Order: sequence, then structure tokens, then C-alpha cells
Amino acid sequence: MAPAAPRSRLLLLCLAVAATAGVLQARAQPDSIGFISIDCGLPGTASYVDDATKLAYVPDAAFIDAGTNQNISAEYMTPTLSKRYHNVRSFPDGVRNCYTLRSIVAGLKYLLRATFKYGNYDNLARPPIFDLYIGVNFWTMVNVTDAGSAIILEAIVLVPDDFVQVCLVNTGSGTPFISGLDLRPLKSTLYPQANATQGLVLYARLNFGPTNSTTIIRYPDDPHDRVWMPWVNTAAWNSVSTTLRVEDIADDDMFEVPTKVLQTAVTPRNASGNIEFSWEPEPQPKDPTPGYVANMHFSELELLPGNAARQFYVNLNGKPWYPKPYKPMYLISDTIYNSNPCRGFPHYNISINATANSTLPPMINAVEVFSVIPTTNVGTDSQDVSAITAIKAKYGVKKNWMGDPCVPKTLAWEGLTCSYAISSPPRITSLNLSFSGLNGDISSSFANLKAVQYIDLTGNKLSGSIPSGLLKRVQDGSLDLRYGDNPNLCTNGNSCQATKTKSKLAIYIAVPVVLVVVIVSVAVLLLCFCRRKKQGPTSNTVKPQNETPVSHAPAPSAGGGSYPQSSLQLENRRFTYKELEMITDSFQRAQTLTKIHHKNLMSMIGYCKDGDYMALVYEYMSEGSLQEHISGNGRNTGFLSWRQRLRIAMESAQGSGTRDRERRGPWKRCQARDAAPRERCVIAWRGLLEWERP
Ligand SMILES: *[C@@H]1O[C@H](CO)[C@@H](O)[C@H](O)[C@H]1NC(C)=O
Ligand SMILES: *[C@@H]1O[C@H](CO)[C@@H](O)[C@H](O)[C@H]1NC(C)=O
Ligand SMILES: *[C@@H]1O[C@H](CO)[C@@H](O)[C@H](O)[C@H]1NC(C)=O
Ligand SMILES: *[C@@H]1O[C@H](CO)[C@@H](O)[C@H](O)[C@H]1NC(C)=O
Ligand SMILES: *[C@@H]1O[C@H](CO)[C@@H](O)[C@H](O)[C@H]1NC(C)=O
Ligand SMILES: *[C@@H]1O[C@H](CO)[C@@H](O)[C@H](O)[C@H]1NC(C)=O
Ligand SMILES: *[C@@H]1O[C@H](CO)[C@@H](O)[C@H](O)[C@H]1NC(C)=O
Ligand SMILES: *[C@@H]1O[C@H](CO)[C@@H](O)[C@H](O)[C@H]1NC(C)=O
Ligand SMILES: *[C@@H]1O[C@H](CO)[C@@H](O)[C@H](O)[C@H]1NC(C)=O
Repeated sequence: MAPAAPRSRLLLLCLAVAATAGVLQARAQPDSIGFISIDCGLPGTASYVDDATKLAYVPDAAFIDAGTNQNISAEYMTPTLSKRYHNVRSFPDGVRNCYTLRSIVAGLKYLLRATFKYGNYDNLARPPIFDLYIGVNFWTMVNVTDAGSAIILEAIVLVPDDFVQVCLVNTGSGTPFISGLDLRPLKSTLYPQANATQGLVLYARLNFGPTNSTTIIRYPDDPHDRVWMPWVNTAAWNSVSTTLRVEDIADDDMFEVPTKVLQTAVTPRNASGNIEFSWEPEPQPKDPTPGYVANMHFSELELLPGNAARQFYVNLNGKPWYPKPYKPMYLISDTIYNSNPCRGFPHYNISINATANSTLPPMINAVEVFSVIPTTNVGTDSQDVSAITAIKAKYGVKKNWMGDPCVPKTLAWEGLTCSYAISSPPRITSLNLSFSGLNGDISSSFANLKAVQYIDLTGNKLSGSIPSGLLKRVQDGSLDLRYGDNPNLCTNGNSCQATKTKSKLAIYIAVPVVLVVVIVSVAVLLLCFCRRKKQGPTSNTVKPQNETPVSHAPAPSAGGGSYPQSSLQLENRRFTYKELEMITDSFQRAQTLTKIHHKNLMSMIGYCKDGDYMALVYEYMSEGSLQEHISGNGRNTGFLSWRQRLRIAMESAQGSGTRDRERRGPWKRCQARDAAPRERCVIAWRGLLEWERP
């Protein structure tokens, strides 16, 4: 057969789009049509309207907290150069630097576009090579080969979270930089080859035979602001066009190619020749033989007489790519695409040839070629990310806190440790922010790190009290919290104290003191250590401690070691801790109260209510808890004989003058064995807090 028409090579054309400045308010959120359009390195807060698209471009400061703004060098500042390329943000510090695009819809597909024009901004005349990531998944290598051209990179990915990060990773071949970053939402039904585990990286998106060979089609002609590059080859192709509307009639238009793109097409200049074009694979550091998918868009633009037929085959490397003869429909768009990526060819040669009974040459309107990337790397649990991001923002933590906190392991955030399970996202399990210059109160976001088991806040300048959410975690034993050496933190009686008021707290406390009966089955007591003490039953000095590990302790009498000293402002139906503290003159008066003793009764120091958790605070029992004595599980404790138990119950009931008070709440009662029927012991737990003030 005859030689084919000259082969055309797919090329990414990088045409500059002129822009002029208009001033708008900067915003860090998608605009009214869901777009985010960022001019990276643009100083100040003012945005401007891009001349070509009329889209507002915003400065990047709201999206990133690293890097420096740089102007490109004067020799590259041509009069028609798009404003986006006038400056860059460069990242001399840190291995990974990331833009965070927020307030997007989790589970939707997005088009991400990053642009790069080096322009010798650093006067080193050394264009860098670096890597680009979408979140924790590799996107592409950026190989800036010359200072003057612009590189436009695009990806279509399904975003699993309500934010997405674009990260530049320094691979040791120069300082990463970026000129612009766009995000465009796509319907989930678009681009079926993009799914939860596979993303698409644009190789080329070409509009065949545009009437003006320099016209780039994008927004508003393309509502998704895809960039359709013109492709004409007058030596090989004739252009065909229509002014009539071309549309997709299918309900599930998977590509939504704009009419303006579909209104033009090419046919081979030699009427008996083929349309041919090709591309070569671009090996990536992470994928030496990337797979490719192609979407070829067709529509008949000529109203054919009855005896005419346009029918053709689409071949890849000489073999049918689409298995049947294909006939484009008049003014109706249709797409031939492959779902499974083609991989491993040294060349991808597309040839479109007419069938034997076709009276007209083949034609094509547009083509998109993508390589595929796996998006199977899973980032840190999104709730953990939100929490740690809020913590980072609140304290302005610098360190290397960029990108995903746990992934990859090699770039995990300094001071964090993470757990990596096979079937679930990584979780943050410990956080060491000791001596990190933290100022202000303790963020409630710490409590939102649900899997964290250890937090070290030692040696900062934290103030205020410990948030109740965090305290709850400490109480239920799931968190070890250290916060020593924070002079302004409410961890001793003085710093949280407000104005002193006279009060009658004594009686309020005295009532529970006499009612707390020792035969309490302590197992169900939920303690929230408003304050715990380090003394035996007869000494009641409350002394601030310096060492401050807060951890769960099993019972009021937990012994040994050092004890948390937190003067916590607890929300309580009756009293706040602050109130207690004020009323008792920093527990001076409470000491008196706790001297009301019965040998079988433990004195109650106080109580608190924290959310669902309610607690009683008792004095320290040096010999171990009652539970230990009852069960015999104590460290060195004896086992109470039944006789002893009975005696204690009797004496307690009589000596303390326990009255039978009816109370709301989940009280449990029990009959002390062999005791007089009315002499009841009370298993007090949550109900204690339901008592009314006398
Ligand atoms: C046009 O194509 C036919 C068939 O492929 C071939 O025989 C002929 O030489 C071509 N003409 C030119 C001018 O290339
Ligand atoms: C960049 O150029 C603008 C003027 O075009 C100037 O105002 C600004 O200071 C320059 N910035 C840097 C970092 O040199
Ligand atoms: C970057 O591009 C240049 C020019 O195409 C090429 O010679 C070089 O090998 C590329 N670098 C890498 C790391 O691929
Ligand atoms: C995504 O598409 C690829 C290629 O067709 C397929 O192998 C993979 O199973 C798909 N993933 C999901 C989550 O559907
Ligand atoms: C093609 O478009 C460019 C702007 O995109 C314009 O300057 C030029 O005049 C147009 N050419 C023709 C032939 O219409
Ligand atoms: C594809 O085209 C190139 C020239 O562009 C040629 O060298 C190569 O042999 C072709 N490969 C196939 C499989 O047709
Ligand atoms: C066109 O392609 C088909 C399918 O690959 C092939 O069978 C046929 O020989 C080709 N015809 C011409 C004229 O190249
Ligand atoms: C043209 O030929 C193909 C087989 O090559 C056949 O499937 C098709 O029906 C024919 N079309 C017409 C209009 O004859
Ligand atoms: C927390 O970090 C500090 C300072 O780097 C270090 O001294 C301390 O040992 C760390 N704590 C733990 C438990 O790793």
C-alpha cells in the first residue's frame, strides 16, 4: 500500500496567554464556579482577572506557608507574557513543600494543573529537576529543560478528602519552584479511566484543525477550563469545520468536549491516505513503562449525500485499536477510548484508515492522551490530618511539617510517630512537641487525635487549662500527657485562681464526705482526677508537683510515682473546679474537711463532672485500693476476711450516720450480707453528682 501521510508527533505546545491586571479580593477557597486559580509567588493579597479566561487569579500565600516569592529575570519578561509567569514561589528549604487546596468535595474528580516557567529567577541559569506529588501519590517528574518555556502539567484524580495537596519534592537536582496552580472540579462521571486507585496525567490534549491555528480553547468555551491546544499540519491535513452546534446526545457524556473543539476536524490531504500521529512513552522515576489511555473524539461535520460514506478503522501500532469500522455521526460527538492502559510499547503509532467501502477519507476532531498513575497510597486518617493541621496552624509549628503527617515514612513529620496498618489509613500515635516554643492555651484539637497515646508538651509557654476532651482521654487511660515546665499552665493552685469569694462550700463537700461508704465496688468509678494527692489518709497537704505525666490510675488509692497536678477548669453541673478552688481557698478549707475522719471511710476531696464523665476525688490510700483488698489483687495488700468486711460495713453505716436519701440517677444498692436490713451500703457512682445542694 501507499506510503502514509507525514507522521505528526504529538507535542505539548506551551503558548503564553496574555493577561492584564484587575484587582479583586484574594480568597483561599474555590470561587463561585468551584475553581481555584493561584498565581504562585504573587505578592500581596490582591487578585487579578486573567485577560484570556476572565478568571480571577489569587496570590498563593493562603495556600502555603513555606517558600519565597521571586521575580523571573528581566530578560524573560516579554510584553505579552502572562502575569502568572512574572513571578514564582521557590522552595530552597525542606524536602517536601505543599500547597493545600481546601473546601472541595470529597470523592469528586478534579483536574489539577501546575505551571512552571523558570525564567532564570535565581540567576543561576540552572533549570532544576524535581518531583511533583498529589497528596501522597507521585504525579510526575518536572524536568525544566530551558529557562524560557513554560511547562504545563495536568492531572485528573479522584480526591478522597475535602482537601487536596500538591507537593513539590526536592530530589537533589535543583530548587523546586512553581508559577501557577489551578483546580477545576469535574463530575464523577467524567473521565471513566480516573478512579479511586488510578489517576490520569495529561500527555496532550489537542484540537484538530482550528480555524485560527494559534487559538487555545479553554474557559469559558470549555466550562471545565481544560486547555485544548491547536494542532494543524497543513502539509498532511485539510481542516474541516462547521458553525453548527455539535453535541453529545448520550445521557452520560463522559467527556463533555466543548462544541468549539468539536466544530473543527482534519482529514488527510491525500484523500486516499491515512491520518497518523504518534507519541513516545515518557519513563518516570517511579514507573519506567507508564501505561497510556487515549480518548479520541469524533463528529461528522459534513452533511453527506446518500451515496457517500465515511468509515474508518483506528489502529495502534498497525493493529486494530478499535475492533470495528467506525462511522462518525453528523453533528453528534462520540469518543473512542481505552479503559485499560496500553503499556510497554516503544512507540504509540496511531493510524486512522478508511475502510474499503468508504467513499470519504477518515477524520478526527480531537484527541487526549494520558498516562496513568496509581493513586493507591493512602494518606493519614483525615480526622488526624485535620487535627494536626489545626495544631500546626495554631502554634505556627515550622519543623518539617509539610504534606501528609505520616506518609511517606521518610517524610513523616518530626515529633510524630504513626501506626501503619495494611487495611486502614495511618494514624498518629504519639506527638512530641516538647520545647517547641508553643504559646497560648492547649488546643482542643489535641483531643481530636483519636489514636494518639502519648503527647509531650513539656517545656513550652502554654497557658490556660487542659481542655476537657483531652482530659477525658487521660481519664479513660488512652492517653499519656506530659505538660511539665509550662510556667503559665494551670497546673498549680495559683495560676488559675480568680477572685476569691466567700462561700459555703464546706457544707456541700461535707455531705458527700460522710456519705461515701467504703464498701464501694470501686470498679465502676470513673475518675477524672480534678486533683489527686500524694499523701496518706491522715495528711492532707495539697502540693503542686513538677513532674507531670498524666495517666490513667485505677483507683483513688493508686500508689507510687508522681502525680498529676492539674488545676482544671471543669464543667460541672454543680461547681466548676475554679469555683471549688476559690471557695476552698485553694483547697485550704478542703483540708479541714478531709479531716473529718472515720477509720473506715475514705475522705472525699471533691468531685467533678466532665462531659459524660463524673468523678469522685478521694484521698490517697497508701495501702492500695479497696478493690485490691477485696479481690486480693493488690501489689502487697492483704485479703480482707469476710469478717473484716462485714465489720467495716457495719461500722461505716452506723458511724457515718448514712441516711437513706432517694436520688435520681443510676444508683445501685446492695444489702450488706448479714447486716440489719436497713443498714444499707450504697454503691455510689454516677448518681453522686445528682445530689441537690442542701
Ligand atoms: C496518496 O495516497 C495514495 C494511497 O496511500 C498514494 O498512492 C499516493 O501516492 C499518495 N499521493 C501523494 C501525493 O502522496
Ligand atoms: C518583583 O517585581 C516587582 C515589580 O514588577 C517589584 O515591585 C517587587 O519588589 C519585585 N519582587 C522581588 C522579590 O524582587
Ligand atoms: C531532562 O530533560 C533533558 C532534555 O530532554 C534530558 O536530556 C534529561 O535526561 C532529562 N532528565 C531526566 C532526569 O530525565
Ligand atoms: C480503576 O481502573 C483500573 C483500570 O481500569 C482498574 O484496574 C481498577 O480496578 C479500577 N479501580 C477501581 C477502584 O475501580
Ligand atoms: C488568531 O488569533 C489571534 C489571537 O489568538 C489573533 O491575534 C489573530 O489575529 C488571529 N488570526 C486570524 C487569522 O484570525
Ligand atoms: C511507529 O512510528 C515510528 C516512526 O514514527 C517507526 O519508527 C516505528 O517503527 C513505528 N512503530 C510501529 C510499531 O509501527
Ligand atoms: C486499515 O486498517 C485495517 C485494520 O487494521 C487493516 O485491516 C487494513 O488493511 C488497513 N487498510 C489500509 C488501506 O491501510
Ligand atoms: C462497509 O464495510 C464494512 C466491513 O469492512 C461493513 O461492516 C460495513 O457494513 C460496510 N458499510 C457499508 C455502508 O456498506
Ligand atoms: C521528646 O522530644 C524531646 C526533645 O527532642 C526529647 O528530649 C524527649 O526524649 C522526647 N520524648 C520522647 C518520649 O521521645
